[in-house]
Amino acid sequence: MIRATLQQLRLFEAVARNGSFTRAAEEIHLSQPAVSIQVKRLEEQIGAPLFEMIGKRLFLTDIGREMHAACTDVFARLEGLEERIDALRGEVVGPLRLGVVTTTKYFLPHYLGAFLRRYPKVEPQFKVTNRASVIQRMQENQDDLYVLSTLPEEIDIRSQPFLGDELVLFASPNHPAAQRGRLKMEDLLEERFLFREPGSGIRMALEGCLNRKGYQIAPYLELGSGEAIKQAAMAGIGIGMLSTYSLRLELDTRNLVILDVEGLPIRREWHVVHLAGKRLSLAAERFRDFLIESQGIPF
Ligand code: PGA
Repeated sequence: MIRATLQQLRLFEAVARNGSFTRAAEEIHLSQPAVSIQVKRLEEQIGAPLFEMIGKRLFLTDIGREMHAACTDVFARLEGLEERIDALRGEVVGPLRLGVVTTTKYFLPHYLGAFLRRYPKVEPQFKVTNRASVIQRMQENQDDLYVLSTLPEEIDIRSQPFLGDELVLFASPNHPAAQRGRLKMEDLLEERFLFREPGSGIRMALEGCLNRKGYQIAPYLELGSGEAIKQAAMAGIGIGMLSTYSLRLELDTRNLVILDVEGLPIRREWHVVHLAGKRLSLAAERFRDFLIESQGIPF
């Protein structure tokens, strides 16, 4: 019996459909090495290669083609099964309470929009706040599901990653640091850093990154939101760190640029989380599955 995980089958299917590890990784918002490792594990399980590279093109092997056909069957069956289970258990209706950290507001509404088109009778409640407040909400059992990146160790939770993320340092294109090519972190120690407030997950990640290298930097300016940090950086006040999801528009219009710093970006993952003892409503269960099974953000 092949002991593949569903995630491995999904990644394999995405690579086969795109004819490329890179494009599949982009679609799923995972790093290319993460996709390659999972497909490699799948090949080890099967004991044979699933792909072959001829020239610059990626082809399925004979076994890969069989595997692909099986995946298509499995996913079609699972989708049908979900609908039949819903029919047996009743309609997917009622409240869906989400407690989420700030960066997710740049992508989670797109998942929610697609989900609500499928289940229009679900009534979403969406609390966007920083990591410390999300964890407090968890401790008080206030929501059905939570979305955050750095998981709390002190609470008994069930979590599942569903999307990759990258934290980058950025500045205005006119900032001197933006004009110096590749930088080391120590080149930036004298810069004015724009920090989020204590309790922010991004601040924790930035401080962790600096501490691991033995640096401590006092915030030049502390701002309570990522939007404020972007505006301050655009005004040339200093450099900030945020997820690339928060920076899409500003990077596209070149109001901000990513600094090319050795050791960055910080790669992490977005997790959908619920309390270990929580009895999830059908709406919450479906939304959780929807996040995990979506192939990237439904923009
Ligand atoms: P924060 O979390 O709002 O607590 O900074 C967001 C994140 O970790 O991206």
